[in-house]
Amino acid sequence: MTDARPAAVVVLAAGEGTRMKSARTPKVLHELLGRTLLGHVVASARALDPEHLVVVVGHARDQVTAHLAEIDPAATAVVQDPQNGTGHAVQVALAGLADLQGTVVVVLGDAPLLTEQTLGELVEGHVRSGAATTVLTAVVDDPTGYGRIVRDGAGGVVAIVEHKDADAQVRRLAEINSGVFAFDAARLREALGALTTDNAQGELYLTDVVALHRRAGHPVAGHVVADAVETMGINDRVQLSQARALLRDRIVERHQRAGVTVTDPASTWIDVQVAIEADAEVRPGCQLHGSTTVAAGAVIGPDTTLVDTAVATGASVLRSHCVGARIGERASVGPFTYLRPGAVLGIGSRAGAFVEIKASTVGAGSKVPHLSYVGDAVIGERSNIGAATVVVNYDGRDKHATRIGDDVRIGSDTMLVAPVTIGDGAYTAAGSVITQDVPAGALGVGRARQRTIEGWVARKRGSRGEQGKQS
Ligand code: UD1
Ligand code: CA
Repeated sequence: MTDARPAAVVVLAAGEGTRMKSARTPKVLHELLGRTLLGHVVASARALDPEHLVVVVGHARDQVTAHLAEIDPAATAVVQDPQNGTGHAVQVALAGLADLQGTVVVVLGDAPLLTEQTLGELVEGHVRSGAATTVLTAVVDDPTGYGRIVRDGAGGVVAIVEHKDADAQVRRLAEINSGVFAFDAARLREALGALTTDNAQGELYLTDVVALHRRAGHPVAGHVVADAVETMGINDRVQLSQARALLRDRIVERHQRAGVTVTDPASTWIDVQVAIEADAEVRPGCQLHGSTTVAAGAVIGPDTTLVDTAVATGASVLRSHCVGARIGERASVGPFTYLRPGAVLGIGSRAGAFVEIKASTVGAGSKVPHLSYVGDAVIGERSNIGAATVVVNYDGRDKHATRIGDDVRIGSDTMLVAPVTIGDGAYTAAGSVITQDVPAGALGVGRARQRTIEGWVARKRGSRGEQGKQS
């Protein structure tokens, strides 16, 4: 669709979003499954490959502009101050783009469910029809608050009337303005110059371009979206959670259709960028966030959270919380395992119940089965870390490294006081505090020798007299 490549996409995001009731987060920066509202809109806009991508900012402009620079450095932020309406916002956006020719697309920063497919179809239809304006519309059950699409007897779009300006008859119309448009750049500029504030809100309405074009004899088209949900605008936190649930279902369905088993879509929250291969399985109660990837044959959950975590083929992660971890092929994690950034589990390795691992490598076939903390350590292959082992990596000031070789047996309840190295094939005795290196093949013992005191219990009871007997 190279001929449909827009000259510019303008994202309107200057509004305050008062109904979010947030003192800290501007409306368009609220989060929805891995992207902000603005992030979703900018991603769809970017998919059109426009020459210019302009975001109109106003309220909390510093925060919004900084975020934009992070998510799409090639986009430009343009400040609209004061915010004198959607028509004014587009005037401001175009002021810096002289000699613009071709198609200008306008989208709303608070409508994150609009897909790049719909946007692409809108632009294609617009270019094919040669219209001066094409408005994306939707037929909805409850049009309250939206601008209404007024059509003539032949079905042509005549005008958009804002809810606040509409009479009872117009308010009964169920076809609404999504706020998304494709315009011919030159015709748009003409009409923007003719806008007035003669309306209920005293603002320059972008929607008035439709009637201006119509009156000037320029063709206006309406493109009805197949799924009205795509036009949903987010104004408060109720709508935010509704949109999140809709997006969740959309994302889960995409994975299911691509061959992923998702047992319970309603309790499965997968961010947009998460990649899952066919024949992976996601069980109930899972959250997969950020840049997480799950390979074929892996089983996630139930009740597991993965953040920026890579799970390789055939691995399983049960009832665990993993952030920034890499879980190798056929590795097994959980239940109740906490993997932190830099945890790398080798092929066929295991991190079991109540185990926390941070910035450490567990080699192929090695196991940390129970109740352990492993931090800043490298564990070789086929080694076993006994229950309740703690890598004492922090001396209160600095973190230190621990190296454990291949085929090592760390006895239960060993404290490995870093920096320390355990050679290949070495053992440590259960309950040891290991403060010195243990060479290959050696046994490290670091504990007090047991004393056994014969008859101690009877003597103790005797000293407590009658009381001791009664209890
Ligand atoms: C707008 C449309 C309405 C449509 C609805 C769809 C107009 C006049 N009305 O109404 O027909 O049905 O969207 O959701 O266009 N913005 C700016 N600068 C401004 C004003 C708004 O950037 O001066 C931005 C807002 O941040 C928001 C978007 O434009 O992202 C829409 O503004 P909003 O005030 O929410 O318009 P609505 O009243 O919802
Ligand atoms: Ca709105």
